[in-house]
Amino acid sequence: MRLAGRVAVVTGAGLGIGKATALRLAEEGAQVVLAERDEARLADVDALLHDAGRPCLAVACDVTDERSVANLAEAAASLGPVSILVNNVGGGRSGRITDLTVADWDHTMTLSLRSMFLCTRAFVPGMRERGYGRIVCLSSGARNGTVWNAFHVGASAYSTAKAGVTGFIRALAIELADDGITVNAVAPGPIDTELAGPYLRKMHEDGLEYSPIRMTPLHRLGTAREVADAVLFLSSDEASYITGTTLDVTGGR
Ligand SMILES: NC(=O)c1ccc[n+]([C@@H]2O[C@H](COP(=O)([O-])OP(=O)(O)OC[C@H]3O[C@@H](n4cnc5c(N)ncnc54)[C@H](O)[C@@H]3O)[C@@H](O)[C@H]2O)c1
Repeated sequence: MRLAGRVAVVTGAGLGIGKATALRLAEEGAQVVLAERDEARLADVDALLHDAGRPCLAVACDVTDERSVANLAEAAASLGPVSILVNNVGGGRSGRITDLTVADWDHTMTLSLRSMFLCTRAFVPGMRERGYGRIVCLSSGARNGTVWNAFHVGASAYSTAKAGVTGFIRALAIELADDGITVNAVAPGPIDTELAGPYLRKMHEDGLEYSPIRMTPLHRLGTAREVADAVLFLSSDEASYITGTTLDVTGGR
């Protein structure tokens, strides 16, 4: 029970890595605030946690919207002071540079970066007051390009956004160090989530030379729980001397 007595907010907790993270942090004793836009997914995870006897709070919200994030912060306060924030929401639209629209570009930056900015800004004051906080942001192997991304062209907006996460966590780690708040990132490689998994496996089944399963040294997709374990570590007291760092969970590349 490494997180007993802590309140943790996980954005995008309805599916994939966010869901696995919410379950993992709850297993370690955290009271988890599930921040999710999709109400059906939110209700599923809420029910899973309640059935397991884990206290949690489900908040339907859009973390790219300032007003909605203010409501999330207000709702979360009912569980007590928030000491862990997992900025998990991210993603965007793919396309070759000449096909990308301004709307595609802006959507990717909004989903991946504005969400992190709004949630972090909302929860830092409370962490600062108590001189303790753990902020973990989801990055991606795509921030540097990965070998299998050499095949998957069209990720310039997404890669830019995830490289932006590096700048965000490194600058904030310095800014918040004297407040006892650490800021780190976890960068997954190809992960077998409900949405990405089938697409990633199909690249392999189709015999593509640069499929992630072929090009990753561990020769398999990662699981959402393996990513959640890394988030858990950076959210725990054991990571007390780690800040401004990105932990790769990429199967070796
Ligand atoms: N799955 C992968 O292979 C992989 C690899 C590298 C990085 N990542 C990163 O990990 C994170 C999670 O990825 P995933 O594949 O689990 O995501 P996903 O798309 O499977 O799930 C994201 C969840 O967030 C919710 N959501 C989306 N927009 C929201 C918003 N504005 N407000 C609130 N909730 C919102 C969705 O409804 C969904 O439940 C992302 O930042 C992604 O870029 C994933």
